[in-house]
Amino acid sequence: MNYFISQFGNPHGIVGRLFSKMMNMSNKKMYAANLKHISGKTSKVLEIGFGNGRQLEMIKAYYPECAVYGIDISEDMYEAAGERLGDKAFLALGRAEKLPYDENKFDVIITTDTCYFWDEPDKVFSEIFRTLKDKGIFVNSYNTMYAGAVKRSNQNALGDDKAILSAAGRQGFVPAAISRIGVCERQIVLSKNYREWR
Ligand SMILES: C[S@@+](CC[C@H](N)C(=O)[O-])C[C@H]1O[C@@H](n2cnc3c(N)ncnc32)[C@H](O)[C@@H]1O
Repeated sequence: MNYFISQFGNPHGIVGRLFSKMMNMSNKKMYAANLKHISGKTSKVLEIGFGNGRQLEMIKAYYPECAVYGIDISEDMYEAAGERLGDKAFLALGRAEKLPYDENKFDVIITTDTCYFWDEPDKVFSEIFRTLKDKGIFVNSYNTMYAGAVKRSNQNALGDDKAILSAAGRQGFVPAAISRIGVCERQIVLSKNYREWR
């Protein structure tokens, strides 16, 4: 994996902090599209791959009553998000492949610009399915251009809707909505129980 991709996949050092700020700007549309799936009724949200914590900060600002959780593999991002959020969020340093949470915990799980970095996508979807409440949804927003770049160095990376939907389907997820957010940005909403969610 080249240096630039590795900085997006596990931001580290001063360059990693700089990259995380760039991501805040380039991922703005996806943050806004994700927020639409959270409401005053949402009691617990988890973000997988929170970077410097900007998206969790936005959720908390709009929905102060909602408990926000996050998990990321980068020690430097864990530190940066901790500085940003203080005691407003429950942050964990760890991998999406093994979520340190009880089953049926979250109403909504979101991830932005992250799914192509998962080493074992099936395990991640299985963990998301386990920790979501019965009527819960998983909102995956991603950038097709970045997905393509990562896929060139890792053939197993989730690079498009088809790959994401089939990995999610193997764990029991049902697609609830698929939309285009921008020129390269896409969003896939997956439900543990589609009929209930509608
Ligand atoms: C491209 S950055 C996106 C950061 C943030 N979502 C944003 O939009 O600003 C990808 C993030 O996912 C994290 N990440 C990558 N693989 C992960 C995994 N298996 N489990 C948890 N976090 C992961 C990285 O450390 C990084 O912070």
